[in-house]
Amino acid sequence: MECHSLWECKGTALKDPLHHPHQTPTNKDATRGSLATFLKATVYLFSTVPWFPTTIQDLDRFANQILSYGSELDADHPGFTDPVYRARRKEFADIAYNYRHGQPIPRVEYTEAEKATWGTVFKELKELYPTHACHEHNRVFPLLEEYCGYREDNIPQLEDVSRYLQSCTGFRLRPVAGLLSSRDFLAGLAFRVFHSTQYIRHGSNPMYTPEPDICHELLGHVPLFADPSFAQFSQEIGLASLAAPDEYIEKLATVYWFTVEFGLCKQGSEIKAYGAGLLSSFGELQYCLTDKPKVLPFEPEKTCMQKYPITEFQPIYFVAESFEDGKEKVRKYASTIPRPFSVRYNAYTQSIEVLDSMQQLRNLANNINSTSSSIISFTGLMFSVQVDQRLIFK
Ligand SMILES: [Fe+2]
Repeated sequence: MECHSLWECKGTALKDPLHHPHQTPTNKDATRGSLATFLKATVYLFSTVPWFPTTIQDLDRFANQILSYGSELDADHPGFTDPVYRARRKEFADIAYNYRHGQPIPRVEYTEAEKATWGTVFKELKELYPTHACHEHNRVFPLLEEYCGYREDNIPQLEDVSRYLQSCTGFRLRPVAGLLSSRDFLAGLAFRVFHSTQYIRHGSNPMYTPEPDICHELLGHVPLFADPSFAQFSQEIGLASLAAPDEYIEKLATVYWFTVEFGLCKQGSEIKAYGAGLLSSFGELQYCLTDKPKVLPFEPEKTCMQKYPITEFQPIYFVAESFEDGKEKVRKYASTIPRPFSVRYNAYTQSIEVLDSMQQLRNLANNINSTSSSIISFTGLMFSVQVDQRLIFK
């Protein structure tokens, strides 16, 4: 078979590098044989890798691949029979749906009723923070009051908070129109992007919400994202998720649940809360530090297997020695995830660099002189794979 175009040539090579008409290997050369086997395996691995964003702009690609639109409420949602609340939820969902990376997050004029709901939650939780929240949260909270409009009578604007976070740790907020898949949500963390809701819970019961809302995001998540160690820890979970097989996404989502959402940490001789699900829940923040729940040490390989309830207080919490310790453990755990490469975030270009395999291949090419012609073809082949990936990504 002859190649009729460059694309056909590459297509053939990608399907089966050993049978490409221009580079048929001979069985006499053992080194070439093993190299070819290695190449075939590597190409196969690359071709089976799930898509993942490689630039921060790529987050636009899945922003609207939501599992349910923000205005679609379940029958047991407190706002289900409230047409005004449902219409309001659609306004917020539409803002997020039309948002693209780099744009300022549209400002929202919150109603007096919405501000009253926020005020109730803000006041109750603020009283608990000094005794129940970790000191990183307590260190940042006054700064948010000073610079971001955190007040009982004011719901801060996502844009102001996002800008402040960027100045602290490079983390930023991005409005989200509904529920993202775990894979997409975790991928955002790899870029230090947190997908945030902008609406507020239904006013009929300010101390309850069946889903994340702006109280949960701004009071629970944001203070910790302003802490450098926690920001790194969160990003580490996101990086681990890129190109991970589905079973590992579920495990990482569980690690996220027991840390970023419901984590406890040691602080001197005490244990404090750092999970956003705790820091935004008046009832569970008190409960989690009593002797009722079981507390286990945070070990990603065990934590990731733990089942958990969604609609009631957690029966088990995991306690981290520190964010630094948690980060190292997640990083070590990530190295066990089967991927044909590792990844690194380049903060200058806001992009993901794919490491190891390409470098290994270059090293291999430099070390095996007798098969130079094959290696040239081979590196060309890998380039093809990269080009193909880029086409898929863009
Ligand atoms: Fe959350």
